[in-house]
Amino acid sequence: METIYTDLLCIGAGLAGERVAVEAAAAGFETVCLSIVPPRRSHSSAAQGGMQASLGNCCMGDGDCPDVHFLDTVKGSDWGCDQEVARTFVETAPVAVREMAFWGIPWNRVVPGESTYFKGGKQYEKVEASEREGMITARSFGGTAKWRTCYTSDGTGHTLLYTMDNKVVELGVAVHDRTEAISLIHDGETCMGAVVRCLKTGSLRVYLAKATLIATGGYGRIYRETTNAVINEGGGAIIALDTGIVPIGNPEAIQFHPTGIVPTHILVTEGCRGDGGTLLDVNEHRFMNEYEPEKAELASRDVVSRWMTHHIQKGFGVKSDYGDHLWLDIRHLGAKHIKTKLREVEEICNNFLGVDPITQLIPVRPAQHYTMAGVRTNKDGAAYGLKGLFSAGEAACWDLHGFNRLGGNSLAETIVAGKIVGEKIAEFLQGCEVQYKTASIRDRVAKDLDRIDRLISGRDGNENVFEVRNAMQDELMDHVGIFRNEKDLQAAVDHLQEIYARAKKVGLHSNGIGVNPELTLALKIQGMVRLALCVAYAALERTESRGCHAREDYEARNDRDWLKRTLATWNEGDDLPTLNYEPCTQTVELPPGERGYGVCKIISCDGEVIGE
Ligand code: FUM
Repeated sequence: METIYTDLLCIGAGLAGERVAVEAAAAGFETVCLSIVPPRRSHSSAAQGGMQASLGNCCMGDGDCPDVHFLDTVKGSDWGCDQEVARTFVETAPVAVREMAFWGIPWNRVVPGESTYFKGGKQYEKVEASEREGMITARSFGGTAKWRTCYTSDGTGHTLLYTMDNKVVELGVAVHDRTEAISLIHDGETCMGAVVRCLKTGSLRVYLAKATLIATGGYGRIYRETTNAVINEGGGAIIALDTGIVPIGNPEAIQFHPTGIVPTHILVTEGCRGDGGTLLDVNEHRFMNEYEPEKAELASRDVVSRWMTHHIQKGFGVKSDYGDHLWLDIRHLGAKHIKTKLREVEEICNNFLGVDPITQLIPVRPAQHYTMAGVRTNKDGAAYGLKGLFSAGEAACWDLHGFNRLGGNSLAETIVAGKIVGEKIAEFLQGCEVQYKTASIRDRVAKDLDRIDRLISGRDGNENVFEVRNAMQDELMDHVGIFRNEKDLQAAVDHLQEIYARAKKVGLHSNGIGVNPELTLALKIQGMVRLALCVAYAALERTESRGCHAREDYEARNDRDWLKRTLATWNEGDDLPTLNYEPCTQTVELPPGERGYGVCKIISCDGEVIGE
């Protein structure tokens, strides 16, 4: 079998993976990136609205600084994040934005006389001072005290990814696209690389690396309605969980974005609301300001998604063949604004809905968007449990976001964490020697060959993998969504265990080991259901509401009992994860308090009940 040796193996070539690769390659280490798709088609390109960094250049960002960004991020996370990580992040983000400008990002800049903003549905002008002209500007996003989201129209993910990929090419990083890591090679203590399947030929290769990075993005595709691309099936989380050693942090922390378009669930950016767009109900009545008088549509995502769902449940949704939805209205922003600053939104609405957002309303409802969960790492990006294994970006639980990520903090995290983790990996590689153990490699390859053989021969059964996946997606969507309760969560766990039994009996209905999506999915399906069980079971066990995890039967955030992070591992042969817990944060710069938006019900650390 072909074996490839390298210093760093980056599994995933989106923004986080490529940013790490750039850092390691620039330090002189041989680096290989794997990618299911050509890197420029990675899901990072779907991020539209921008990245947060407290430059404070535009007039609506006056007074911004890392401290204010820190406050917003910790409050946004509902005190679930690691505050030491948040502090490092907010201090580094402005540097990272400027570095990206230097590498070629055409950031939108301050244009005097062009600063228009909407409040309470009314339009205001604020004249930018001419000495700011040409500085990197920012737009408003949810849950932020200042305009802090730096952007390139609404194609920020596109421009960042293309620029990063240029850098990868410039530095001679090898990119092996259309390949997928199907298992990690380890001896219980050290990670030595991965077994990788070529998606064109179906052949397996062994990659042996001194350091291995998981940067495969999130696992939104375990849900039925998601803004995530088809590649976001949790490949990295699955192979980490399969080790039985590396934990997934906070698997239950799943974000829903308020504005997925109906029926395809493609994202239309929070920038629409940041720039003044409003949410309307069946009567074309604006409702968010009634629930959230201060922030209205620009409360944090978990809050807006909950109110939207509540409003639909009260009967104010618009009936459609694809379920009830609400409207996003950006018509009042005008053709010039939409055609320049929201042009991807215009294209998406035209191409996927046949709707012209300049003159028509956009049908939207919350859709799964982001996994705050991921491979649990320390602040250097080193995974718990296996030496030589790292993770960054959405695939990781670093843990910058806790139980709710602020819009614009994910693009920023890819660049910031990529830079920091890349530096740490370069330090790790300095003088690093790994003994690649033949027995561990042979054992892993044999297991993977056997898995493929069983699927092709139908030895374990003939369950249809697509039906199994759909059943899993429905279960999560219907029972582990925006509002959760014990009855639904217990039902989800029970049903997912049945689905897991079916996943073990999958057999192929097609043939061919090369370009075969059925085989590719079949190799992942057990791992996907294991992840789904981690989400549902961890949500069942967490008897409080925090950020995106909203329990109807435990409405208060319970800092006394639950100011802690879930760590889920999976022991071979089990049909439920093992859950352990660790404190959310060691450094408490900002003690738990009220977020300033959303419903406030808190059981404080000393047991005091607030807001009931
Ligand atoms: O709405 C958006 O543009 C998405 C941004 C994000 O998830 O950070």
